[in-house]
Amino acid sequence: MNNCWYDNKTVILTGASSGIGKDLTERLIKEHGCRVIGIARNEERLLKLKSSLGDKGDRFTYYTFDVSVKENWEGFAETVRNENIRPDILINNAGILPKFDRFLNYTVEELDKAMHINFYSCLYSMNALMPVILESDSASVVNIASSAALCSLAGTSVYSASKAALKSLTDAVREEYRKECYIGLVCPGFTKTNIFSNQGAAIESKAQKAMDFISTDCDRMCNLILRGMKNKRADMVFGVDAHLMSVGNKLLGTVCSHASSAVMKASGIELFARVFK
Ligand SMILES: NC(=O)c1ccc[n+]([C@@H]2O[C@H](COP(=O)([O-])OP(=O)(O)OC[C@H]3O[C@@H](n4cnc5c(N)ncnc54)[C@H](OP(=O)(O)O)[C@@H]3O)[C@@H](O)[C@H]2O)c1
Repeated sequence: MNNCWYDNKTVILTGASSGIGKDLTERLIKEHGCRVIGIARNEERLLKLKSSLGDKGDRFTYYTFDVSVKENWEGFAETVRNENIRPDILINNAGILPKFDRFLNYTVEELDKAMHINFYSCLYSMNALMPVILESDSASVVNIASSAALCSLAGTSVYSASKAALKSLTDAVREEYRKECYIGLVCPGFTKTNIFSNQGAAIESKAQKAMDFISTDCDRMCNLILRGMKNKRADMVFGVDAHLMSVGNKLLGTVCSHASSAVMKASGIELFARVFK
């Protein structure tokens, strides 16, 4: 077992049923002896995860609720208090990637949904749980944003906005609680998970090849996240594409967004076609 400050801690982690959240849950339990309280909606997947943990399954409990609803967080915070749960770490990971599209092709409901799942869920969870987390000697909040928070691309308007809002919130709260709480922000680049499964028709092989080429394995991404957390890094930009977007945006500003969007357009990939029609 690696020796680090979050060994044996109690972690509340959203989006535990799939992808990055599922992988982080497994590692925190198996490699760090943590107790993880996972939150997601799909109970079947959460149960499967629990049973896959074998004799360590008792370290994983879960709650099924929609993280985008404020009242759910108020109710959960009450459960945490009533059951005398003493969380040390909150990892806000749950998120969705709306279909790549032009802004006016989204309905207001789709825009609201993305903002609520990707941004308001974190605002609500931090508001509801930080008071109890701050009682821990290892008080920590880690928010999983995206490289889209660093450089906006055509077709990702609401996703980029939701993640940029999360970045701003995290950066400000970090300064306010610097002495009491470690607050980390992760901006992963493309990572091989199921997040692309809602992109409508199956991603055509050309797009899949391009995605595979630039994407980081989920396993590796979670390694990087846990290593970043171990070193209490404030900003964690992971993945070659994320670094390019971060540096490109710092050096070139909007030219970086324009150049990246031009590459998407020129690629002829069907996945992006709706954006440039
Ligand atoms: N994969 C990438 O390329 C990539 C890149 C940058 C950033 N990220 C960010 O990384 C995070 C994890 O993404 P992933 O790639 O691991 O995606 P994923 O495999 O699709 O997992 C998303 C998780 O979020 C949960 N979730 C979604 N909406 C929810 C809701 N309303 N209430 C409760 N739980 C909800 C899902 O659980 P249920 O469906 O069971 O509710 C699932 O466990 C996201 O915030 C994403 O934006 C991903």
